[in-house]
Amino acid sequence: MHTNEHGPYGDREEAVLHYEPQYKFLKCRVNGVPVAKMVDMRASLTDFLRNDFSLTSVKKGCEVGECGACAVLIDGVEFNSCIYLAIWAEGKDIWTTEGLSLRDGSLSIIQEAFVDEAAVQCGFCTPGFIVGATEIISRKKYYTIDELRKELSNHMCRCTGYENILIAVQKANNIANGFELEADHKVNRINKDNIKDYI
Ligand code: FES
Ligand code: FES
Repeated sequence: MHTNEHGPYGDREEAVLHYEPQYKFLKCRVNGVPVAKMVDMRASLTDFLRNDFSLTSVKKGCEVGECGACAVLIDGVEFNSCIYLAIWAEGKDIWTTEGLSLRDGSLSIIQEAFVDEAAVQCGFCTPGFIVGATEIISRKKYYTIDELRKELSNHMCRCTGYENILIAVQKANNIANGFELEADHKVNRINKDNIKDYI
């Protein structure tokens, strides 16, 4: 209980400031589905997606907007959901990695490229990278590896050393947008025939 020595609040104002629940009715679309929920006005979009919809591809890494593990698409643009209040999503179109697979359950081009190029180790950063790559691909522009390094510099990976991730994103961008594949991309780096070279 706060006392007057912590501020000039009377009893009633104290009750309002500190004890009244603050909830708001939120309507938006999540992975293409219209949703409506009461949300705590202080909740992050990360917590909203994980706790209310079990969308656990939205990872909690740093929770201060530094690592990209919690990235989602909001109206087609990538945002770190840990520093985005859930109530700001009112009327918006939110996509997480769960929603990016094809309707028949098969993997999207970018997900396939991550598998083919062995761009995953522990996988914690992967959903965030896939969300970032999805926005990049949607721009329909050719990117060199160095340009992609800059574009994806808001994502941290503790395991892979980034190179395979950059190759996977470039490959997916080239395939999805009809650009010619780089020489490196014409074969899967790891498949059942050459896997012995990697173990
Ligand atoms: S968890 Fe959101 S940026 Fe790191
Ligand atoms: S694969 Fe482990 S953090 Fe990126």
